[in-house]
Amino acid sequence: MKKLSNRIITINRTPIFLGNDSLAYIDRLVTSLSPTGLFILVDPNTREHCLPILLNKAATLVHAQVVEIKEGEFGKSLGNAEKLWNELLSAGAGRSSLLFNLGGGVISDLGGFVAAGYKRGINYFNIPTSLVGQVDAAIGGKTAVNLGHIKNQIGFFHAPQAVFVSSGFLKTLPEEHLRSGMAEMIKSTLISNPALWRRLQKNPVSRMLVQPVEGALWQDFIHAAITFKNKVVTRDFRESNLRKILNFGHTIGHALEGYSQSRHGKPLLHGEAVAAGMICAAYLSHLKASLPLADLNTIASYLVEGFGHFEIDPDSKIHLMELMMHDKKVKNGQLCFVLISKPGFPVINVACDQTEISEAIDFYNSLSR
Ligand SMILES: NC(=O)c1ccc[n+]([C@@H]2O[C@H](COP(=O)([O-])OP(=O)(O)OC[C@H]3O[C@@H](n4cnc5c(N)ncnc54)[C@H](O)[C@@H]3O)[C@@H](O)[C@H]2O)c1
Repeated sequence: MKKLSNRIITINRTPIFLGNDSLAYIDRLVTSLSPTGLFILVDPNTREHCLPILLNKAATLVHAQVVEIKEGEFGKSLGNAEKLWNELLSAGAGRSSLLFNLGGGVISDLGGFVAAGYKRGINYFNIPTSLVGQVDAAIGGKTAVNLGHIKNQIGFFHAPQAVFVSSGFLKTLPEEHLRSGMAEMIKSTLISNPALWRRLQKNPVSRMLVQPVEGALWQDFIHAAITFKNKVVTRDFRESNLRKILNFGHTIGHALEGYSQSRHGKPLLHGEAVAAGMICAAYLSHLKASLPLADLNTIASYLVEGFGHFEIDPDSKIHLMELMMHDKKVKNGQLCFVLISKPGFPVINVACDQTEISEAIDFYNSLSR
């Protein structure tokens, strides 16, 4: 294969093509696989902003059938999976058809799920167009749909054939979604890289958001997050142990995300919920894993500056605990958390009881005052 001006990294034998020329590899891969059918999954926003860019770079996809779902988290449903399976079936898709997921984490989670289930598994490619997708969701082969308001309850480990990461897509991503993606970048930094965390502290979220995404600052963080996830998932694809560290902030974050969807008004974005979840996890880290108070305070103020504050109604704690108990990290009836003993040093499987979790939520609520 002729070398293009990209970086390629490999994860569990899945190549990740990085850089603005990365889409140029698609034609060669498609040709080498001789598929019987080609499908591109989009939502209305990625159809408008990203599909023209993709088709301009990948001539083999020009006659692919485009399948679309409505945008947003509610799209990650069994109903949508069934709708897509029916569309694939009607179009005559077979075992050697290929699905290209062009979109954010909702598209790669749902599209990967559909690919994993269709005729016991077809090959698929992720082309992440949101920051959450590029630094996290599109990599590592975790696919899922939600069950009502309970996140990611039904899913498969089914790795994509390749991932194409082009930051050019991020130019049309609305700012609130760029901010949301920053939460996953910050998570990656807090569990892996003290030096990068120090650099982030000099660059608050509000300052990052006015920097060009193609500049060195953003690219360094995006590349570090992808490389780190690559390393973790290569060592523990099925999340038996090490991969659990990627869930830092997600146990309470997922519960908040589901809870906010079940209420009136605008639901929290994934990253906003994870940011609040990381503050609670940092509090638990101080309580149970010796995270110094100064670090707890720095993490909390960095995240509140970046993501604002979402008041958690104290009366909803029981409902939140119930949502958390559906989490995959429950052991012997107790919730196990990923915590940090200091920035860059994760600790897994720390059991926390309801009183401690409740205190963490109270700490989070105290930050609005
Ligand atoms: N599987 C995993 O390992 C993993 C990891 C992290 C997050 N996730 C999942 O990812 C989901 C969140 O992902 P997300 O934040 O990307 O949400 P999303 O897919 O809903 O995308 C966010 C919004 O941005 C729009 N958009 C995407 N790319 C665009 C572009 N280039 N230009 C204009 N608009 C664009 C979308 O249409 C959508 O409205 C959650 O469901 C979360 O659970 C999965």
